[in-house]
Amino acid sequence: MKIDIIRKVPEDMDCLIIFQDENGHLESVELLPPELAKLIQAYIKKEDFQFAYASLANFTVINGTHRQNIILLGGGNKNDLNTNKVRQLLGSAIRLAGKLKAKHIFLFQGFNCPISEVAFGHVLAESALIVSYQFNKYFSKGKDESEIEALHYMFLSKNTRHLNRGIVEGRIYAETTNYARNLVNEPANVITPETLAETAKQAALQYGFSIDVHSLDKLKRIKMDAFLAVGRGSVHEPKLIIMRHLGNPDHHQDTIALIGKGITFDSGGYCIKSAQGMANMKDDMGGAAAVLGAMSAIASMKLKVNVVGIIAACENMISGDAYRAGDVITSMSGKTIEVVNTDAEGRLTLCDAIHYAIEKEHADRIIDIATLTGAAVSALGNRYAAVVTNNESWLEQLKNAAAFTGENIWQLPACEEYKELLKSEIADLKNSGGPFAGAITAALFLKEFVQDKPWLHIDIAGTAFVDRETGIFPYGATGSGVRLLTTLLKYME
Ligand code: BES
Ligand code: MN
Ligand code: ZN
Repeated sequence: MKIDIIRKVPEDMDCLIIFQDENGHLESVELLPPELAKLIQAYIKKEDFQFAYASLANFTVINGTHRQNIILLGGGNKNDLNTNKVRQLLGSAIRLAGKLKAKHIFLFQGFNCPISEVAFGHVLAESALIVSYQFNKYFSKGKDESEIEALHYMFLSKNTRHLNRGIVEGRIYAETTNYARNLVNEPANVITPETLAETAKQAALQYGFSIDVHSLDKLKRIKMDAFLAVGRGSVHEPKLIIMRHLGNPDHHQDTIALIGKGITFDSGGYCIKSAQGMANMKDDMGGAAAVLGAMSAIASMKLKVNVVGIIAACENMISGDAYRAGDVITSMSGKTIEVVNTDAEGRLTLCDAIHYAIEKEHADRIIDIATLTGAAVSALGNRYAAVVTNNESWLEQLKNAAAFTGENIWQLPACEEYKELLKSEIADLKNSGGPFAGAITAALFLKEFVQDKPWLHIDIAGTAFVDRETGIFPYGATGSGVRLLTTLLKYME
């Protein structure tokens, strides 16, 4: 989709969006052709449309020989708007335009939006590209032809530098988010640890970060046995994917590790899931996709930060050689783990990835992002990710990033008393703390491996995939975390 700023009104506009606040008059919408303005004014009068917050209306007018779709979008009280609300509003109108099969959208705005021009350009491009995303490659009848070709923002000022900068950035955010959505939407017979590593290599080439992939032999040599135990039941060999973006050559700068859960399919292993519980488990590499998307965005924006992305990719399956309940495994760190539940596999892969990040990549700060627990979904649903930390001031930065991207987060306590739930009778730890506080005990398990490093844990089990249209997202993967991580790193520049 082309997104640009224009100052001349063309003859035939197939779809117009009029974005106005509640006190606005149509006369304040500059550039609107007078003939058209009259027709729109008549509709507004007749329907008593007030431009209340998030109100939408659409109708068609015949203007000369042209048939045009008009969409009215209400901004409500402009002083209550923020970047996230503007993203949602623009997204809802552009989605409607898409449903009306618009090809060229012209956006007219009749009030001064209180957010900066950079932020406006950003959310305009981002929302347009995110709401119009479709994953339709598997329909045998071919693609839906109704793709939006261009979005034109009518803007009178000659200085479009800030707006354009925002549009460029918003496009990067959306494209890397959509890349992550593609990876998650692809079924597990397509995305395996091998193919995930291959697409990571392509992204590295395209966006300009470096990459290493370690295979089975190497992983055995460095004793990532917790990770390897999970992958052992699958015919697809595990892969450790290591990506680096060294944007700040000053060696005193922290290296920040982004660690994404990369279970390409989670059957539950011998503690097998129900059919219902397994249905969407291709999304269990949502954390890995978030890291891949964020690495791509960070590299393409050339952020002045040092980041290492790590994905321990494997598949949790069943076979004669798969790991069992009751097995005791020695993690890379030397800590021993009693496997009480083969479905609590994510933390086994992540604990080795965290240890690897600290010992082999000298990470100073750790962020892990994972579709880790059903408990996070039970607690917060699909509109909030659960966050646990050992560093409150870093979390404040993450909260600011979340306020910008609209990817809501909610902190759960790293309650030390619950560590008792992870005590094993025969090993250092067990891999499940049982039915209570499941999202917290999963985090506490990982906390055992972060040593003294500042750590943010983001559980996106609920937000990675939606089974119906939710906010700016249609059915399917959301790319949860891509924009959040990118923004956090931008704030850390
Ligand atoms: N991948 C699942 C968590 C999940 C659930 C993600 C729903 C997305 C939607 C994870 O590996 C898992 O199975 N967790 C178990 C842990 C339990 C056995 C301690 C869970 O949450 O039930
Ligand atoms: Mn599981
Ligand atoms: Zn899982």
